[in-house]
Amino acid sequence: MGAWRDGRRDDPAPCRENDTGLFEVTVRDGRARLGRLHTQHGVLETPALLPVINPNIRTIEPREMWDRYGIGALITNSYIIWKHEELKQTATTEGIHALLDFPGVIMTDSGTFQAYVYGDVEVGVEEIVDFQRSIGVDIATMLDVFSRPDMNEEQVRACVRETIERAAASVHAAQGTMLNGPIQGGLFKHLRTESAKGMGDFDFAIHPIGGIVPVMERHLYKDYAKIMMASIPHLPPHRPVHMFGCGHPMLFPMSIALGADLFDSAAYALFARDGRLLTPWGTQKLQTLTEWPERMPCVAEYTPADVRALGKKEMTAHLARYNLEVTLAELDRCKQAVRDGTIWRLAERRSHQHPALREAFLWLSTSPHNAKLDKQFLEEMVLDDRDAAKDIDQHAGEWENAWNWIVESQESPRKGGEPWGGDDTNVRPHVDAAKKALRKRWKPRTIEARGSDSVLVAYGSSGPWRERLSDLMVRLQHHCPGLEVMIQTPIGLLPYSLEDLNPFTHIDGPQWLWRRRPNPLLIRQELQHFGMQERRIVLVDLLGDGVQSRAMAALHHAGVLDGTTDDDASGRALETVNRTAAKETLQRRHVADKMVVLLNARQEWVDELLEGSTCVVNRLGRVKNTLLHNGVHIVSPRLTDGGLSLTDGGASVFHNARTLPAPSAFERSNEDHTSNGPAWIVVNEDAEPFIRQGRNVFHGFIVACDEWISPGKTCLIVNRTGDLLGHGVSNGTLEDMKSFKKGVAVKTRGGIRLEDQ
Ligand code: GUN
Repeated sequence: MGAWRDGRRDDPAPCRENDTGLFEVTVRDGRARLGRLHTQHGVLETPALLPVINPNIRTIEPREMWDRYGIGALITNSYIIWKHEELKQTATTEGIHALLDFPGVIMTDSGTFQAYVYGDVEVGVEEIVDFQRSIGVDIATMLDVFSRPDMNEEQVRACVRETIERAAASVHAAQGTMLNGPIQGGLFKHLRTESAKGMGDFDFAIHPIGGIVPVMERHLYKDYAKIMMASIPHLPPHRPVHMFGCGHPMLFPMSIALGADLFDSAAYALFARDGRLLTPWGTQKLQTLTEWPERMPCVAEYTPADVRALGKKEMTAHLARYNLEVTLAELDRCKQAVRDGTIWRLAERRSHQHPALREAFLWLSTSPHNAKLDKQFLEEMVLDDRDAAKDIDQHAGEWENAWNWIVESQESPRKGGEPWGGDDTNVRPHVDAAKKALRKRWKPRTIEARGSDSVLVAYGSSGPWRERLSDLMVRLQHHCPGLEVMIQTPIGLLPYSLEDLNPFTHIDGPQWLWRRRPNPLLIRQELQHFGMQERRIVLVDLLGDGVQSRAMAALHHAGVLDGTTDDDASGRALETVNRTAAKETLQRRHVADKMVVLLNARQEWVDELLEGSTCVVNRLGRVKNTLLHNGVHIVSPRLTDGGLSLTDGGASVFHNARTLPAPSAFERSNEDHTSNGPAWIVVNEDAEPFIRQGRNVFHGFIVACDEWISPGKTCLIVNRTGDLLGHGVSNGTLEDMKSFKKGVAVKTRGGIRLEDQ
């Protein structure tokens, strides 16, 4: 934010010459991101709120915004300045920063909104961009054509196409000044997408989502979410997304979770003039208040009654400050949530504050799941209403890609517990991501051995399960090695071999969640995902004494165990040698299954690789390190999240095992890449020596990448000839790798020196 001295904050330093206009992401949480936008008036930290300054009515002085509130950027309207002789004169001779007395980033709008409100503007497309450039704004806006939510498809199409038509001339007129390229499209999904793709092709610095003010004014938050989901996935990810006219803090968490980087607020001043207070849960009238909804610094010495007693001008100034402080505080909460990996949860919590917001949130998180149900419904039922059937058929799965766009960007596993939030828990994107990875990659061993026609489902208690089950597991390994053991968690079945994997293991909620009686239909459905639907289900309750003997008895009853094991079931010890062998097999299985699920390894290959391997365990019996038969340490299971850390040796083993050619471009084929190992990222010659020394991979040095790379996942770093340079954890998706020019692309965990190869 810069240093303060005697209540004044230092002026910003310009960014490096070559960085002007670049955007980098420093922290991400799914699609939410903290970033840095480089400009000639400082590096703007995002997400950021740009207060709207009306150059004619300054409710709060821009200098105060900079000095007191640490605001890095604001937005004003170039059309108002252009129309106003005096303002125009000062702006032209002294520049916009002097006119507003603001040293930070200044964005200007173009007059589009005035055209929407008053019907037309008198200025030309190039003229207004040229004017903005000439008065020294940091970020100008082209004259887009506003698409209203009440327009029909044809009218909206005309707005979208006309805006795209104007893009080339506008970019040309900007002569290198950073330019906003707004996305229009009304409420039409395909037109929003067309607009995003069309505008994305031009050299804009930022993409505001336009035409949403009337949507927000009418509380059409579900439409607001749809607009975001129809637009943002189709924009170049290295450009910030600005929500034009969105300044209500209630919308910040959801917007940020869906990828918004910038907001502008006239609301803080407009609502103040109206005697209204903004809060993260809606709006309140000063008239009705005895206490402050939140006690902000600017009202520390006043009660609501004190402020009411002031004159209109002074009251408005107080409320404007109040609203600004509340808005900034919510933005800070969002930023911290992104750092903590909890932005979706914050959006989930806030969604309960307003019925329309809840509707939007439920639409986001449940409609992709409902789409599957819709399809199933149509397959299994004959509907009396043919039109309804056609409608369901047409729309089922319409938004699935957008949801997948969120899910594929999620980091999983994560540290810490997963607080139970009712049904919402199951549809949190990172929970969905964890479930999808498990279902896609994990499979039972297909060995011809006793037990392979059955599955033991343990239920009834939260983890850790190791202590309660390890003896039983050793016995089962010995007597019925074909039997799979699954644990019922509140978010789905988890193979015992992955018993410490987050989030399955750490659902923080009431005990009854774990005590739910297993539902045979749901279990059968889940087993289907793992190809085990034909197996006989044997249940064992984890609560209470004698789990082991109860499980053995149940297996005996089910015919999985026969007479030879009866003695054992009654308690006779296994031979020590068998016990040790069974334990080692279970440890190997634990590591192997983690390599399958977390490193995308092929099960058969891993099983072979780990033959003769050794697991080093800690005093609690948990595997710390795994060494191959030749002593090479390949992976270390992490105790914090149940994840797996790859070693340099492990990276080499994966690298050598790859049969696919190295990627040569950034292409998405949408083929299934299960079992292809960790993604490869190819860097150029300049980066090679740095990666070998263990330095991070920076955007701008990447020449190709596998399409299954994703945030938080292990990847291998290679040069153009496919030599291994290092390994690390990706910060982005394929599209991010292709687009970004600045920032860390991969956090390198190990470099492979030439002498070590
Ligand atoms: N301000 C609020 N909405 C819009 C929009 O759609 N376009 C422009 N240029 N400014 C806006």
